[in-house]
Amino acid sequence: MSSVTVRVPAKVNVQLSVGPLREDGYHDLVNVFHAVSIFDEVVAKESESITVQVNGKWSDQVPTDDCNLAIRAARALAKHAGRTYGADLIIQKEIPVAGGMAGGSADAAGALVACNELWGLGLPMEDLMEIAGDLGSDVPFSLIGGTAVGTGRGEQLSELPTGGTFHWVFALADGGLSTATVYAECDRLRAALGAEVPWPMLDDSLMEALGTGDAYALGSHLTNDLQAAALNLRPELAPTLDSGRQHGALGAIVSGSGPTCAFLAIDATHARDLAQSLTATGAAHTAVAAHGPVHGATLV
Ligand code: C5P
Repeated sequence: MSSVTVRVPAKVNVQLSVGPLREDGYHDLVNVFHAVSIFDEVVAKESESITVQVNGKWSDQVPTDDCNLAIRAARALAKHAGRTYGADLIIQKEIPVAGGMAGGSADAAGALVACNELWGLGLPMEDLMEIAGDLGSDVPFSLIGGTAVGTGRGEQLSELPTGGTFHWVFALADGGLSTATVYAECDRLRAALGAEVPWPMLDDSLMEALGTGDAYALGSHLTNDLQAAALNLRPELAPTLDSGRQHGALGAIVSGSGPTCAFLAIDATHARDLAQSLTATGAAHTAVAAHGPVHGATLV
């Protein structure tokens, strides 16, 4: 095999409950991930060494040196297999960069699946999940997709059943936000308040809404503990969220650590209309309609 192509989805967090800061600098989470139909594509081609090239939207914002997460993923996989392998990774980007939609994690998951196939390793999903967890908290979810609850720092996953398809609109913002900076701002805001941070708990009503496919119920139970921090760092996101609510969004939240804003729509037609309204009113310069859940990293 000389070339392999993998498609990997973006995610939105329908519940992101952040516990106290741990000694290792991470936070224990209850993180309900939901994979949506905005996809990056990762092509792996036979090569002597491991390289990466990024094409498409925002490609100029993605590093192509050793800190690129897809390169690190391919290297970690080769190390796990105990041999030196090469691959030219070519990433076609659609997922916003540093947008709170796990774009970098998606590319890492795509590289793991693509190189596992290209190099004929045949490693089982459990092995890929373990390598993924070491690469980043969101990478294991990018492998499996669907809807799942992540605990620990988000990497310990249990799949959640969903009773239907949900329709979303994502308002893309200029410039990304660093995940670490948003968590640090969350800690700072909490310290200023001085209140004890509760242990994160899965929201039963949210689970029921997901299970029955009830978009209205899901919309009213969306939560994100990082939202206040993201809004503090990017105050201009607040009117974007308000505008979506005014145009009938069932729920409006910052996606993960932001700055992308996520709006839950009634159905596909409402999602299209909502996306149009957000751009027509200037509330967002780009708004993308998508649906979920979708599969994780998939060979095409
Ligand atoms: O795991 P990942 O590399 O994606 O995390 C990026 C940063 O986000 C971490 O360095 C940490 O500052 C923050 N983080 C956290 N708690 C988590 C996940 C991420 O504080 N559960």
